[in-house]
Amino acid sequence: MKVSIVGAGYVGLVTAACFAEFGHEVLCVEKIPAKLAMLRRGEVPIYEPGLDELVRKHQASGRLRFASEVREGVAHAEVIFLCVGTPQSDDGSADLSQIEGAAREIAQSMSSPKTIVEKSTVPVNTNEWIRKTVHRYKKSGARVRVCSNPEFLREGSALEDFMNPDRIIVGVEGDEDRATFRELYGPLLANGREIIFTNPAEAELIKHAANSFLAMKISYANMLADLCSKTNASVKNVVRGIGLDNRIGTQFLNAGIGYGGSCFPKDVKAFIRIAEEHGADFALLREVEAINGKQRNRFCELVEEVLWINKDKRIAVWGLAFKPNTDDIRESPAIEVVRFLKESGARLTLVDPKAAENFQQLFPESDQVRYTNDAYASARDADALILLTEWEEFRRIDLARLRAEMALPILLDGRNMFDRREVEAAGFEYYGMGT
Ligand code: UDX
Repeated sequence: MKVSIVGAGYVGLVTAACFAEFGHEVLCVEKIPAKLAMLRRGEVPIYEPGLDELVRKHQASGRLRFASEVREGVAHAEVIFLCVGTPQSDDGSADLSQIEGAAREIAQSMSSPKTIVEKSTVPVNTNEWIRKTVHRYKKSGARVRVCSNPEFLREGSALEDFMNPDRIIVGVEGDEDRATFRELYGPLLANGREIIFTNPAEAELIKHAANSFLAMKISYANMLADLCSKTNASVKNVVRGIGLDNRIGTQFLNAGIGYGGSCFPKDVKAFIRIAEEHGADFALLREVEAINGKQRNRFCELVEEVLWINKDKRIAVWGLAFKPNTDDIRESPAIEVVRFLKESGARLTLVDPKAAENFQQLFPESDQVRYTNDAYASARDADALILLTEWEEFRRIDLARLRAEMALPILLDGRNMFDRREVEAAGFEYYGMGT
């Protein structure tokens, strides 16, 4: 089947490469010339495990091609996925100008029937605006339908998530669309996955509702962590105790410095705003957001309680990405923690397997801020070690060797990654978040 994808960002590129892997002929439209040139050379501008191999594989197979103009995408396929950015405006609402722009361009160049599919996260009822826009600007009488197929992939495991989704949600206008999506996702259906068909508005809502719910689980765990830190309880044991109830589930209950990234902070804010616009007060989500904000401060307070004075203390900081297996630092809690440490006069050595380069744009090397690739070297003569992202390489660290590098064996764990007993047995003073 022929498919066009508008926007070669995170979601667009993963979708394009995976559809090519399914056997479809994919044309991916990217407007930014530098990005397009990179992609045509087989270079992937983001770090995502396996993505560059898959992109190169299907450039070679001829099933994945790149173009600069939406009209080329329109000419290529009947089904066109919109994967353009929907950045956040100051008031929390989504800026939908790229969606509107793409819809207008499709309308102006279409001369045969088209099915436009929203994949970017958009507020409920955006499908109606797309439909209206295309009808206003189209020059031919060809029919257009608008569907919604939200994406639930996580950075760091995006290909795996695409290929093994818990569910595929598709908001459709009618039976013809159902057939289109059954063909599109054929290989997954053959593996026993199911498509849940809804109407487009429901599909749009499902995306915001799912992400907000997951963020709510994290904030719930973080509130428990706060309570545990004041009692003789470890939040790790408490969340295990509740998570094993199948109705609750063990995932997304890890307490720590809170959620970051390009989705949860933005989607929670957007959902509060969407509810407000429809006259519903989602106070619960405002609290989710507030708790998340407080976690970073709680961690900074913990550092101060332990170190007393940060000035001139040598601190190794492990982890800068908003989560492991990504180079993404958008809304990373590490930004606020490092800013606080720097402003309070500490001398920092920062390590991150993938995100250091991006972090240097915000915190360039200076007297106070140094970067290294070597976790042990970062801890040399350090007064404390602070863990902010639970990368696997940090988990596998040799504690005895680490202890020998450090001036003082103080370990502050913003992700509750270490096992208290294990690190204490290795001679560390250990401080976690409610554990
Ligand atoms: C999320 C959703 O999971 C995904 O379905 C959606 O499509 C996009 O948004 P992502 O932002 O890539 O994916 O990361 P995710 O793994 O969900 O983690 C988000 C943040 O929550 C990270 O900062 C992570 O550290 C934090 N987190 C996650 C916790 O603090 N505790 C947890 O238990 C889980």
